[in-house]
Amino acid sequence: MQDAERDTGSAQEPCAEQIEAEAPWFVLLAAGKGTRLAAHTGCAKQFLAYHDRPLYWQSVRTCAATQRFGGLVLVFPPETCEANAAEALALAKEDGLTLPLRFASGGARRQDSVRSGLAMVPDSAAHVLVHDAARPFFSKELVCAMLARLAQGAAAVIPGLAVKDTIKQTAPDGRVLATPERAGLRAVQTPQGFDRGLLQAAHAALNTPENTVTDDASLMEAAGHTVWLLEGEEANVKITTVGDLKPLEEGSMVPCTGWGYDVHRYGGTRPLVLGGVAIESEFTIAAHSDGDVLLHALMDALLGMIGKGDIGELFPDSDPAYDGASSAALLAKVMQLVHEAGVQLTHADVTVIAQKPRLKPWKAAIRTNLASLLGLAESHVNVKATTEEGLGFTGDLSGIKACAAVAGLARQGR
Ligand code: CTP
Ligand code: MG
Repeated sequence: MQDAERDTGSAQEPCAEQIEAEAPWFVLLAAGKGTRLAAHTGCAKQFLAYHDRPLYWQSVRTCAATQRFGGLVLVFPPETCEANAAEALALAKEDGLTLPLRFASGGARRQDSVRSGLAMVPDSAAHVLVHDAARPFFSKELVCAMLARLAQGAAAVIPGLAVKDTIKQTAPDGRVLATPERAGLRAVQTPQGFDRGLLQAAHAALNTPENTVTDDASLMEAAGHTVWLLEGEEANVKITTVGDLKPLEEGSMVPCTGWGYDVHRYGGTRPLVLGGVAIESEFTIAAHSDGDVLLHALMDALLGMIGKGDIGELFPDSDPAYDGASSAALLAKVMQLVHEAGVQLTHADVTVIAQKPRLKPWKAAIRTNLASLLGLAESHVNVKATTEEGLGFTGDLSGIKACAAVAGLARQGR
């Protein structure tokens, strides 16, 4: 298909290493028919709905979150490639992704889809990761570990897990032929990472109609390259049969909650902003960032929900990068972490506690803005305001405080 490259974006922290000039590319395979599941699901598994997005989008998000890739090639079924590409571009826009996307039409076998995806990767890319969209739960950390091994000179690196069962080699009639020693066996996963040029050469030489393989590493092995294994991830399952759908079902999600609290002193130089809305008043805020006490409480609630500490750890006061930082931009980073954690935010309830100013005229605008920042319907955002009857530091007009509670649904055992 035509190269439909565009810039998309991500608000996430990069891995520790610098982005190289010859940045790696990511090839995401979403061109299969999902025959083992289609009768049950009615569509190929990579297009099942997950968190209001097609399932393959979870892999796009994780790839973008690493901030390590020069671009991503999405390989779609030839019949629907154009429509799928248009949808992917629309989703990228909605999610504010800046990762360049290209598209390719898949082939009859997985390896043919890989070859057609590789053809869209620019020659400048030194390394490429090839990934099955049917494995949506790999982590950013796994990707970074693989890129580090490639940067050290490995031609091929794949994640794998020790097998729990004893494996038998059998004949078609059911006779057992051999029992390989279990200790050395590994069940391998994707993404698989390669030297781009060597992988392309291996495909050109060995990807023939007679030679059908189930992963790309086997082509590299056959071409005589050393393939290195690193520790895979238990959560990185391949959705293949009905039993594997469990983690995608709403019913299998477990509720989670978070709570946050923040205080700011009146005085100082920052104008009063609450929930991203500028509030006309005689009060100013003393704060390192933009001093949006409500968004700060909300961010802490979100971080609490996903078990990721607090905003002080994530955006330290001591870092000049956060001087005057827009809390809405910081919230976008926190929301990216929520997505990455596989948690779906379902509700937010916030309270501002201030003797003055009176917040009634601003509550509707704050609610609308919070709903937009959080990607929630307004019916799932609630904004309250109260005084403390003249008591304490809000009562004597020394400052303002806010609390936030959030609820979400998390994948079981994430
Ligand atoms: N894939 C592909 N092109 C193909 C076959 C598979 O891009 N011709 C992709 C699938 O979309 C999936 C990954 O390769 O993300 C792994 O393949 P598999 O799990 O076997 O998926 P399907 O081939 O779609 O499923 P099935 O074998 O049940 O038909
Ligand atoms: Mg298949």
